[in-house]
Amino acid sequence: MLRTGVIGCGKIAQLRHLPEYAENPDCEIHGLYDTDSVRAKEMSVQYGGRVHESVDALLADPDIDAVSICAANPAHAPLSVRALQAGKHVLCEKPMATSLADCERMAEAAEKSGKLLMIGHNQRFATSNQLARELIARGEIGDILSFQSNFGHQGPEQWTGQSNPWFFDKKLALFGAIADLGIHKIDVLHFLTGQTTQEITAMVETLHKTFPDGTPITVDDNAICILRLSGGALGTVRASWTFYGQEDNSTRLYGTKGVLRIDDDPKHALILEKKSGEIIRYEIGKIVTNEEQLAGIRKSSGIIDAFADAIRTGIRPISDAKEAIHAMRAVFAALTSAESRRTVAILP
Ligand SMILES: NC(=O)c1ccc[n+]([C@@H]2O[C@H](COP(=O)([O-])OP(=O)(O)OC[C@H]3O[C@@H](n4cnc5c(N)ncnc54)[C@H](O)[C@@H]3O)[C@@H](O)[C@H]2O)c1
Repeated sequence: MLRTGVIGCGKIAQLRHLPEYAENPDCEIHGLYDTDSVRAKEMSVQYGGRVHESVDALLADPDIDAVSICAANPAHAPLSVRALQAGKHVLCEKPMATSLADCERMAEAAEKSGKLLMIGHNQRFATSNQLARELIARGEIGDILSFQSNFGHQGPEQWTGQSNPWFFDKKLALFGAIADLGIHKIDVLHFLTGQTTQEITAMVETLHKTFPDGTPITVDDNAICILRLSGGALGTVRASWTFYGQEDNSTRLYGTKGVLRIDDDPKHALILEKKSGEIIRYEIGKIVTNEEQLAGIRKSSGIIDAFADAIRTGIRPISDAKEAIHAMRAVFAALTSAESRRTVAILP
């Protein structure tokens, strides 16, 4: 039995970590902590587990083997490092950290402790992305030449239910849509292709969101990135908090032998269009959208089960710290590119 603790009991803990630990027969929720103790208490009533009065108290609990870090972005690195040093396995939400040095510090702490550090890149576990990866590896679309991947929705006000969420404030979040949503798509492209980003050119801007006093928020609400992957393919990643319609969580890959459309069609989560004209539509599970999660439609993200399995089997998971660092490098390079208005190369 994996005895778990959850640090940060807000939206992602409530909609993913807590229910998915509760549904996994090999996991038990043992401890909870949130700087807002009322929130932690509410979650303990719903899911069980003791409310700890501090992070240190939770991490000192010998009955806890593993923790989820679900606090705001700047707390990811310090909390993950403390948890690893306390001998706990860690599943830390994305974005991994707010600096590359912190990402590396987290990976080093995992290495030293011998414990697992996994990052919340749940899109790798979507059935559509998993099958797409298999089809690409089998050569169904040939060599990938280009791609486009979008993640856009109405913004974190919808997600958190607050008109002025911490996500909007650079001091509390560091970055906006690029690291909130873009990170998922950059990471998924790495996962699908087995390649990493080699070069990036980006525009990262605040186009529309404002604080309640009408001044622009202090992080980006839109990012458009042009990526060159290590295999030579060119494509775009768009991240947006201003898609004021249905969420777009789609990816298209264009290869020498065909096209793959992932989560791009309302009925079929995956469509393979072959150069020959044959079209195969796969009736498989679509990616779980933020809209569905908020509407209370429960679908497992797969990441909690994968975390528990990786600890039980000792087999390296598909979203470990090393993989996450590749995606974070691209995010930081995109920010540098946007500031300097030039293309930024990422050293291997
Ligand atoms: N993987 C995904 O798809 C996904 C989706 C949404 C959010 N997230 C990530 O999850 C993290 C949390 O986002 P959220 O939407 O749940 O936000 P939220 O504001 O709903 O919840 C954050 C919670 O953390 C608590 N908190 C803040 N600092 C803390 C600290 N130092 N120690 C303990 N608790 C602390 C807050 O009181 C709050 O209850 C963010 O980093 C976000 O990027 C990931």
